[in-house]
Order: sequence, then structure tokens, then C-alpha cells
Amino acid sequence: MIYKVASACIGIIMIMAWTYQPSESITEKSVVEVLESLGADYSAKKPNMSISGVSVEAGRSIIEDGFAPKPGGGKTGQQSKHFVCTSCHNTQREDPDLTVSDPAARLAYTSDRDLPFLQGTTLYGAVNRDNYYNGDYYKKYGDLVDAARNDVRGAIQLCAVECAQGRSLDDWEVESILAYMWSQQLQMDDLVLSEEEKSIIENAVAGNGDKAEAQKLINSKYLNGSPATFIKPPEDRKMGTGHTGDSKMGMLVYKNSCLHCHKNGEYSFFQMDDHAITHKYLNRKSDKYSRQSIYQVTRWGVPPKSGKRSYMPQYTSERMSDQQLADLRAYIRERAE
Ligand code: HEC
Ligand code: HEC
Repeated sequence: MIYKVASACIGIIMIMAWTYQPSESITEKSVVEVLESLGADYSAKKPNMSISGVSVEAGRSIIEDGFAPKPGGGKTGQQSKHFVCTSCHNTQREDPDLTVSDPAARLAYTSDRDLPFLQGTTLYGAVNRDNYYNGDYYKKYGDLVDAARNDVRGAIQLCAVECAQGRSLDDWEVESILAYMWSQQLQMDDLVLSEEEKSIIENAVAGNGDKAEAQKLINSKYLNGSPATFIKPPEDRKMGTGHTGDSKMGMLVYKNSCLHCHKNGEYSFFQMDDHAITHKYLNRKSDKYSRQSIYQVTRWGVPPKSGKRSYMPQYTSERMSDQQLADLRAYIRERAE
């Protein structure tokens, strides 16, 4: 009897184990995988891996090192004499909440992770966006933006030539950069979803719900373009931005942003460090109408020096707020004393 019950139990357990197939949770998938299973079509945005030389690794190498191994052997020439893509862009996630572009939250998030705080939007999740060079970038680049606004390949090419001031990229290089960007696409667990929202999406994926609604819900959880608003330096530089600066936050701006390019002249001829003498210099210039005033350089950028096609990109209000500029001013003043 005992034997019979035991074997029946084992039998039942075996049947349960066989029929119980845990459905793969949506939270382990990429955002695009889930959107595709809901009917979205991303095929035009996927890299063409059949072109010779195209690889994720070549893309990473161009983005971080400025060159890549050539398909036929040897390596390509530097894409730019002045910069690599990561001079101005992170390739990791940089915003805790992907539905807003909030520079204060970004500075906290990036500095916790030892990432720089830069003018260009992170390339993480770039393939998930539909619009590029948004807002006031149209004013800066004019018609050039047309080819980039809704086309990630156009955006890559525009930035290589206009932002990085380098040569244009070959097709296999563009496709490789795109392949790398796909390796940095948004994941479902990057999105902030309630349990209820998760089950709406899971049901739709399983075929028991409104697929279009589920797509909309997912799309509402991240920005489909990075907003960009140009702002001017303060009217009266002695008065500053009108915000009270916090030098502790200013230190983060200085170290994670300015020094990323200026330390040891990394991407600029103008060397900056954290010594008092450098801060004294910046402090003297800041409140003047000087091309070395922090107000001037952050809001207008720095045009290329004659003969040298390097320049400093400006910070939009989404990439550095006026509060953060006041914080930077406070840090420089404190360190100059
Ligand atoms: C000197 C700084 C700089 C360099 C170097 C640079 N970029 Fe950019 N990039 C920018 C800025 C500024 C923008 C403006 C839009 C934004 O990112 O908010 C931008 C925009 C982009 C965008 C569109 C982002 C969006 O969401 O609007 C892509 C894609 C891009 N760059 C790719 C690259 C690649 C690939 C390289 C290297 C070949 C590169 N960039 C090098 C500064 C730079
Ligand atoms: C993406 C790289 C980058 C970042 C980040 C950056 N700069 Fe620059 N900066 C440059 C480049 C490039 C120049 C142009 C001069 C050159 O070619 O060396 C420049 C020029 C300047 C100049 C003018 C130098 C001169 O003599 O004309 C100042 C001042 C300056 N930067 C300050 C800052 C401050 C302050 C920050 C932080 C808020 C900052 N920079 C962030 C790249 C950068």
C-alpha cells in the first residue's frame, strides 16, 4: 500500500514537472524582443551583418579607440584626430528614470558608477530612440539634421563628421557601430513597471490582450528622443545664474565632466587639473566676458581654434542645469581661495 501511494505520488510529480513550463519572464528580455513579439518591426534598424568586416567588436573599437581592424587585415586610420566617440558619450546607462532627462539625477547616478557626465546623450539605448539631434540642435546643424532626425545611421554619420570633426565612416564601420549599439539596447528590467503593468504586457505577449496597447505602455516607459534646449550664459556674469551653488555638487561636475577632457590635455590643448592655481585662473576668468569663462564655454561651447578643428560642445540645459553651473562656480571659487 505504502509502495503504491509513493509511486503514485512520484508519478504525479513527474507529470507536473513535465507539464509545468515556466513561461520565460518578460523581464529577462530586451525591450525590442518584447515589442517585436507584440508586432513592432525593427528590421530596418538592425545592422547588416553580411557586409564584410562588420562586428560588434569592431564597433566597440571605433567608439572607444577611434579605429578598428580592417576586414582585409591591418587597421583603419583614426576616425578623428581630436576625439573618440566616448570623449562625449557614455555607452552605459546614465539615467535612473528613463522617462525624463534630468541632469541632477544623472549626475548622481553616473558619479555612483564612476562614469563621466558629458554633453552627448549616452549611446546606451540609442537604438531604442526614434529621433536624434532633437530640439535646438536643428538650429546648430540646420538641414544637416534632416538625414539624422529619424535615422540612426544618419545620426552616426553626422556625429562622426560634425561632432567628432573626423572623416566619414565606411558602410562596414557604420554597421559595426550599429551592431555595438544593439549590444547596448534597453532591457525590460531597465524600465520601471508595476506588477499590474507587467501582467498587462505578459498577457498581450501570450496572445490574451491588446498588443497595440501593450506596445504603447512599453513605449511610455522611456524617452523616444533625447530633448535638447540651448540656453544662454547669465546676462550678468558677476550675478551668475541666480541659483545658490553647492560646491560639493560642483566638484562632481568639475571632476566628472570638465576633467574628462581637460585633464592632461586628454581631448583638448587647454589643460586643467584640480590644483588651486588652475582654480584661481578659472575663478578670475569666470565672471568676465572672456572666452575662458565657464559661463561662456558651457553655454556657447568653444569654436575650433584656427587651423585646429577641435572645439568644445556646449551643454544643453538637459545635460547641465543652471543649478549645476552655479554649483561648478561655487566649487571653483572655493578651491581658488
Ligand atoms: C565632441 C563631442 C562628440 C563626439 C566626439 C561624438 N559625439 Fe555624438 N553627439 C554629440 C552631441 C553634443 C550630440 C547631440 C545630441 C545628443 O546627444 O543629445 C551627439 C549626438 C549623437 C547621436 C544622436 C544621439 C541622440 O539621441 O540624439 C549619435 C547616435 C551619436 N552622437 C553617435 C556618435 C558616434 C558613433 C561618435 C563617434 C564616431 C560620436 N557620436 C562622437 C557629441 C559628440
Ligand atoms: C568633450 C570634451 C570636453 C569637455 C567635457 C569639456 N571641455 Fe572644455 N574644451 C574642450 C575642447 C576640445 C576645447 C577647445 C580648445 C582645444 O582645442 O583645446 C575646450 C576649451 C575650453 C576652454 C577654453 C580654452 C581656451 O583657451 O580657449 C575652457 C575655459 C574650457 N574648455 C573649460 C571647460 C570646463 C569648465 C568644462 C566643464 C564644465 C569643460 N571645459 C568640459 C573639450 C571639452
